[in-house]
Amino acid sequence: MKGVVLAGGLGTRLYPLTKITNKHLLPIYDEPMIYYPIKALVEAGIEDIMIVCGGNLAGEFLRLLGNGAEFGLKHLNYTYQEREGGIAEALGLCKHFVDGDKAVVFLGDNIIGESLASAVDEFARQDGGARILLREVEDPTDYGVAKFDEHNNIVEIIEKPEVPPSKFAVVGIYMYDSQVFDIIETLKPSNRGELEITDVNNAYLKMGKLHYSVLKDFWADAGASIEAYFDTIRIVREHKIAGKQR
Ligand code: G1P
Repeated sequence: MKGVVLAGGLGTRLYPLTKITNKHLLPIYDEPMIYYPIKALVEAGIEDIMIVCGGNLAGEFLRLLGNGAEFGLKHLNYTYQEREGGIAEALGLCKHFVDGDKAVVFLGDNIIGESLASAVDEFARQDGGARILLREVEDPTDYGVAKFDEHNNIVEIIEKPEVPPSKFAVVGIYMYDSQVFDIIETLKPSNRGELEITDVNNAYLKMGKLHYSVLKDFWADAGASIEAYFDTIRIVREHKIAGKQR
């Protein structure tokens, strides 16, 4: 199983904090943002990881992360997203790295409070296809949102709906077999000019190959807004302090 951390983009929702630096290099309490997804992947047993850099200070990821020794890794892979083409476009750059294997794709600004190991195990046992993670939230309008039928099967994922069909947001951690790269090649840019990961998930859904797991502990999309960024720091701090006291 391969791991991909997406750390490109201009982070405009955090301006001016991201005017000269990369969002994923900003601090979340006592560590840079990008440490959290890398640690979550390593903890779930994934050690072959590609970082997709882009935007401001892309070269600084090398200086910060090196070969990943701090995370117990022997090696880290890097690639560079040259334009703001969206999550699916960034993932498309990893085709040769994934090389027919399965992959866990982690948005570099997503932080979760629980282990990914059981969802990754289920995905490893699953006969190909995709697995997404859902988290119940009060207001899901900033996210992809799952619409369910009466048997709790997902029937559609709607990106940033004005009227959400449920409270279950799609977390920025996605698990795909290598068919994802064929799907990405068929995508057309959305209204915001990006190749949308929600279109990838809906393509798997149409083929009957989209499974899901539900997160129970905290989930933060630290780059969603300045308020989300601030809340993430507060929650991560509380979580870490509680962990030390356990
Ligand atoms: C992206 C996805 C969205 C998902 C969110 C999670 O949104 O498009 O479906 O719920 O990540 O962080 P974006 O941050 O690109 O607006």
